Amino acid sequence: MNRQEFKSYINGEWIESSQPVANFNPSNTDDIIGYAHPVTSEQLDSAIGGAAEAVGEWSQSTPQQRFDVLDTIGSEILQRKEELGELLSREEGKTLAEGIGEVARAGYIFKFFAGEALRPSGEKVDSVRPGVEVEMSREAVGVVGLITPWNFPVAIPAWKTAPALCYGNSVVLKPAELVPASSWAMADIISRSGLPDGVFNLVNGAGSSIGAQLVTHHQLDAVSFTRSVATGRSIANACVPQLKKVQLEMGGKNPMVVLDDADIEVAVAACVNGAYFSTGQRCTASSRLIVTEGIYDEFVARMVDVVGNLRVGPALEPDTQMGPAISEEQHEKDLRYVEIAKQEGALLLCGGKRLKLECDGFYMSPALLSDTDNTMKINREEVFGPVATVIRVNDYEEALSVANDTEYGLSSGICTTSLKYAADYRRRAKAGMVMVNLPTAGVDYHVPFGGSKNSSYGAREQGSYAIDFYTRVKTSYVQA
Ligand code: UN1
Repeated sequence: MNRQEFKSYINGEWIESSQPVANFNPSNTDDIIGYAHPVTSEQLDSAIGGAAEAVGEWSQSTPQQRFDVLDTIGSEILQRKEELGELLSREEGKTLAEGIGEVARAGYIFKFFAGEALRPSGEKVDSVRPGVEVEMSREAVGVVGLITPWNFPVAIPAWKTAPALCYGNSVVLKPAELVPASSWAMADIISRSGLPDGVFNLVNGAGSSIGAQLVTHHQLDAVSFTRSVATGRSIANACVPQLKKVQLEMGGKNPMVVLDDADIEVAVAACVNGAYFSTGQRCTASSRLIVTEGIYDEFVARMVDVVGNLRVGPALEPDTQMGPAISEEQHEKDLRYVEIAKQEGALLLCGGKRLKLECDGFYMSPALLSDTDNTMKINREEVFGPVATVIRVNDYEEALSVANDTEYGLSSGICTTSLKYAADYRRRAKAGMVMVNLPTAGVDYHVPFGGSKNSSYGAREQGSYAIDFYTRVKTSYVQA
């Protein structure tokens, strides 16, 4: 039988393991997609060593070389978006449309950074001293370790890898263990792009062993990580004393405020998308719907109508609107949080039940809870599943203060037709991203991404701001 092998890629070679790990389809656990090949500690060491050697030449490559490599990668990803989208949805569980959309996003990210490679970034200024010229230029940081989560199996690897390569760094990418296929497919495309051996490496393995060894390795210069606050904090604890550059993207408990003057159709569409698309497995998901009194009853009734009728099913079925949870562990956690909310006094308006479908997968009906207040655990902790709550408030000021009352600050939304409230919310929302009449999730690929408070640490990701993390500034003085 033709088994699919998701090998690691080190110094231009595909590396097999004697203990490959099965990669299951969360929509149908009888379906094994292939086998991931984790690296040993020695192999990781050689990947980092090779990346350290290769970065000398790559950091001196021309903008044309970088453009060609990144553009080639982006073109192939875009050409194969249907096929790769299917692979992604099969291993992650998001719907096929979302999977294809994510692959396209990854392709456009490489294209964006192909363009960035050509864009001059230096500056020249006159010195305060006569006859002296001062120049500010950007240099690669060196070897960067990229640790990516399972919920965007190709977009997040792409949005860390593309800028890293664009600015002349070498890369060691460790993807989440649950989704080895998508990053393998990206690595396969990169391996044929003309990039010199050793500049890009893919290492499969557990976070606790391979991830931990990667971030603390003495030849690693920087770490970019996406996932939980707890792991992010431990990475910072390990890396900051070693004076490595660190960029962390962590959780969210994103609010969506719905004011009395909102267009109800717009509000419901934004809340359904933000809370339940991608099975709620987005750090930008809307999990607290903060609704003012005048629109409350109508909003809740419409939400129940739409959420209660979302079609839950296998990711690859064409009429599925919401797929399964990624894993048994996440599935149990989602269901547990519904119980916690009920025990705290919340009213389960719809969903929240384990679903048994024809094929065995981690299915649950999307849950909407009302009668909650912002002090409840369900409104403090990130669930990362299809679970949202409604919080009733009196007016705009109360809505804003509830929205900001959280340890997180990633994305913050408001639905209103009032220019006054929209403008005020943009100013006073304590978050890295503010959305007006749009879902809190689903961001553009060409502008910065990131949050405030416990959601993010370090320089912004994405767009032209990515240069701040992936380069260091050099100031040169020349007396002619
Ligand atoms: C999006 O909402 O389009 O892990 C992207 C996450 C985020 C990405 C969200 N880093 O969910």
